[in-house]
Amino acid sequence: MFLYNFSSLSSPIPRSSFSSLLMQPPRRKSSLLSSDSVAMKQAGGRRNNNLSVFVVVFSILLFAVFMYNEDVKSIAEFPFSRTKSQQIQEKGSNPVQETTRNADESPVSITVRTELEIQEEESQDGETVKMIVAKEEKEDDGDGEEVELPPEECDLFTGEWVFDNSTHPLYREEECEFLTEQVTCLRNGRQDSLFQNWRWQPRDCSLPRFKAKLLLEKLRGKRLMFVGDSLNRNQWESMVCLVQSAVPPGRKSLKKSGSRNIFRIEEYNATVEFYWAPFLVESNSDDPNMHSILNRIIMPESIKKHAVNWKTVDYLIFNTYIWWMNTFTMKVLRGSFDEGSTEYEEVERPVAYERVLRTWSQWVDQNIDPNRTTVFFVSMSPVHIKSLDWNNPNGIKCAKETTPVLNVTAPLEVGTDRRLFNVASNVTRFMKVPIYFIDITALSEYRKDAHTSVYTIRQGKLLTPEQKADPVNYADCIHWCLPGLPDTWNEFLYTRIISHM
Ligand SMILES: *[C@@H]1O[C@H](CO)[C@@H](O)[C@H](O)[C@H]1NC(C)=O
Ligand SMILES: *[C@@H]1O[C@H](CO)[C@@H](O)[C@H](O)[C@H]1NC(C)=O
Ligand SMILES: *[C@@H]1O[C@H](CO)[C@@H](O)[C@H](O)[C@H]1NC(C)=O
Ligand SMILES: *[C@@H]1O[C@H](CO)[C@@H](O)[C@H](O)[C@H]1NC(C)=O
Ligand SMILES: *[C@@H]1O[C@H](CO)[C@@H](O)[C@H](O)[C@H]1NC(C)=O
Repeated sequence: MFLYNFSSLSSPIPRSSFSSLLMQPPRRKSSLLSSDSVAMKQAGGRRNNNLSVFVVVFSILLFAVFMYNEDVKSIAEFPFSRTKSQQIQEKGSNPVQETTRNADESPVSITVRTELEIQEEESQDGETVKMIVAKEEKEDDGDGEEVELPPEECDLFTGEWVFDNSTHPLYREEECEFLTEQVTCLRNGRQDSLFQNWRWQPRDCSLPRFKAKLLLEKLRGKRLMFVGDSLNRNQWESMVCLVQSAVPPGRKSLKKSGSRNIFRIEEYNATVEFYWAPFLVESNSDDPNMHSILNRIIMPESIKKHAVNWKTVDYLIFNTYIWWMNTFTMKVLRGSFDEGSTEYEEVERPVAYERVLRTWSQWVDQNIDPNRTTVFFVSMSPVHIKSLDWNNPNGIKCAKETTPVLNVTAPLEVGTDRRLFNVASNVTRFMKVPIYFIDITALSEYRKDAHTSVYTIRQGKLLTPEQKADPVNYADCIHWCLPGLPDTWNEFLYTRIISHM
């Protein structure tokens, strides 16, 4: 049974207040660029009109070369990983791919790998030609099964977006029945789908191929829980879709229970859960359904009420950010909600944020057994409200954006509060329990194309055609389409989880 239903899904940030938060000086633009010219926007950004024709032609050529290269590279990589023996096999055609597909369907485990080694020995009995084929098959099988892990010390978060429609998206929108209307952008009318095809390529290593079964094996008999705000819920939905593909119908279920959404995978006795706590600590916005409160008040030193639900979870993934962003100061309650207190003081945002994260870190250090539980903290998910931030004077917030920013020489400045980032990065670094800090911020800042925009719901209902035609007022440039960017955030989780016991 599908019992899941999000109610209040309005954006947590009132439009009016955001513009005041994004106080960058307006940028000078010397050339106006057609908003549907992909390559131009990237390379032609600040050049003058005399050059722009040249720039267009050159850029399209560059883009074409880029696409071609990435395509070749990705096709080469598809069923194969990056060892020399495979490069040779790139020319291998159908039989090889079939073998790989078969390999994909068998359960992924260390046992399988052993069997493959045995198969190899058996195949050596064949005649010469067959032996080579068998050997090739074996190697393909091996790599179909084997997942190459990046070195522990590799910085996964510095890199670039590459177009790769052979491996991404990792699942299809219509194949995941658990996606909510908030994120099914294509079903909601979005025409372009290239936003689903970008793969994050770390500079110094590669992310392992995603294998749902491998992840499920790690989750067997375990609970994985996202705790935080609607962006973490966005990521939870992605995770549900990523694992559900490997589970037959009827053996998985989704149910909502108070602040918890629980996706259960029967045959693995595993759960993938989401727990609503937008500030992590207690607040007046903790009702999972009725939380569209403008006058947000928190209790920065009070966390137990939520945290009691986090004990004995095996993988905990925390975040908190977007709900901090609609005012410059945070309202901190004097007393407690239980006693009926209503008086509050206003505290600077980073100061209140640090108080909250200290409370959270103390709770984690005192209550989490790092031998049992792995703890993650996901950094700030950025918004794309001002198209001048990426030099598009004809843009309307994130609406109409169809490609990422591909110039990654510098972080894109889209109004992210880096003070909060620094607090989170610092607090998580100095804890007794090791925290795996997932730095999604900079890499997501490039993804102006990946938001739900007008292809989403508002107050529980799909936008009407009139609302869709009015992105200035209705585009959601906070949340993300699925499949899409949050799948990449989960690839980081996946990498960590499969790399460890
Ligand atoms: C990329 O961004 C950097 C920093 O913002 C800028 O200096 C450079 O000109 C950009 N490169 C291109 C090709 O637009
Ligand atoms: C992948 O992208 C290339 C280049 O844009 C295109 O020619 C090809 O049809 C695409 N393949 C799929 C499966 O979408
Ligand atoms: C199922 O998983 C839970 C933890 O989520 C564990 O306590 C329980 O023992 C497991 N049951 C079986 C039958 O493995
Ligand atoms: C975790 O495991 C290590 C090594 O097995 C052990 O020394 C340590 O005491 C354990 N820590 C806790 C909190 O149980
Ligand atoms: C970082 O955290 C440590 C320990 O929690 C603290 O002593 C230090 O002042 C913090 N540094 C900054 C720059 O916030």
